[in-house]
Amino acid sequence: MSHDPFRMGFHLMPPVGWLNDPNGLCQLDGIYHVFHQYSPEWPTPNAPRGWGHFWSHDLVHWQGGSRGFAIAPDTADEASGAYSGCAVPFGGGVRLYYTGNVKEPGDFDYVHAGRRSAQILIEAKADPASLGGIALGEKNVLLRNADYPAFCTCHVRDPKVWRENGSWWMLLGARDLDDRGLALVLRSGDGCTWDNAGTVRPTSPFGYMWECPDRIELEGREWLSFCPQGMRDLPWANDVDDQSGYVPLPEGERLAAGAEVDARTFRRWDYGFDFYAPQSFVDESGRTILIGWMGMPEADFAGAPNDMTWCHCLTVPREVTAGKDGALLQRPVHELESLRDKRHELADGGSLTLGEHRADVLLAHPEGPLELLLDDALVISWDGAELVLRFTDEAVGCERAERTAACNDLRNLRVLVDNSAVEVFANDGELAFATRWFPRSDNLRIDTKGQSLCIIWEMGDGMAGTYE
Ligand code: FRU
Repeated sequence: MSHDPFRMGFHLMPPVGWLNDPNGLCQLDGIYHVFHQYSPEWPTPNAPRGWGHFWSHDLVHWQGGSRGFAIAPDTADEASGAYSGCAVPFGGGVRLYYTGNVKEPGDFDYVHAGRRSAQILIEAKADPASLGGIALGEKNVLLRNADYPAFCTCHVRDPKVWRENGSWWMLLGARDLDDRGLALVLRSGDGCTWDNAGTVRPTSPFGYMWECPDRIELEGREWLSFCPQGMRDLPWANDVDDQSGYVPLPEGERLAAGAEVDARTFRRWDYGFDFYAPQSFVDESGRTILIGWMGMPEADFAGAPNDMTWCHCLTVPREVTAGKDGALLQRPVHELESLRDKRHELADGGSLTLGEHRADVLLAHPEGPLELLLDDALVISWDGAELVLRFTDEAVGCERAERTAACNDLRNLRVLVDNSAVEVFANDGELAFATRWFPRSDNLRIDTKGQSLCIIWEMGDGMAGTYE
């Protein structure tokens, strides 16, 4: 692990195997827990999928990762995977809700038949004697397909649970019999026995399936985050089926009451190549923190160069706050600044070579068009109208070329480089771009153009001890 040039210093990645969605995000007695979809035996076909687990006191130094499944797909209700789910603080511990996925052997379309989807509850308690300081209890199946509304196909999954006004509420991502994506709303008095309570649908069709619904509440207002599938034909979709974004609820409306959301207000969480299935949680200090999967279901790279034995990573934790006109801002949590080490400054035309591929780059007050070139392979540029992320060396970018976002006023730009991950944040988190890259050289070279002072910090390795 320690000799892998693509291993990250501040992005969570599996030591071996496949990682996808972040799951069960929470903070319990001071300890942050990040569970995630995990197939340790990948690339073996149909490798079992369950939950992996990392934990941290500061969102920067992590432990865990190498210890197999935290939730193994070991019951009949999750034989094809312990799929995504969430954590809800309760009674001094947390409740974990997730989907057990079962694909029956046989000749099925797995949309209308052949797939079972159960919602499962595990109670977890803080326990200093347990791995990561958390002890997971037994599994309880709460809901099966017969419990969902009759208009649903077999695709119902990814519970998001919260408490409001004395009730428990659950959102489930779903595909209906007309191939329309939606979220189901369920209500419960105790978090165990659930009734269907409504739906959240778009005012006009918006994808055939919604994965990973999430609810964000800030300043009394709610947002629905979700991942609509089947979006390829939309003009902004970059030919990609699976998208990830959010819509603000109109002032005064609540998801719990069911809602119609206006798809025209959908904003993408991230404009980079590798971002999907984000999940939010509120930490013990009240911050809303979002972590995304830095990968895609239909990734252009199945693995990575050099026969890597691991695939995908998560984004850095991003603090989410309310912006203007229903927009959400995402900023890397301030804890990451504790990894900042030696500081450099570059003026127009300057260049710098660092010994490690880890840097925090800040252009605090851009004064016109600019360009930042990393390793002669990846350009981040702004021309007054668009912010652009472009691979000039497509092999380094796994044959991906360019992503853009409209931006006619650039007030600040921050770029986090972490070995095989790059995250770009503009205008205090109005725009974000997450992308994987696979640089060839051991050194990181940074070239700048434009009348903007560029501050570069070398970044430490927060994860040197993670996989021991
Ligand atoms: C999203 C997703 C979820 C599902 C999980 C399975 O990436 O497809 O809908 O629960 O991944 O790993």
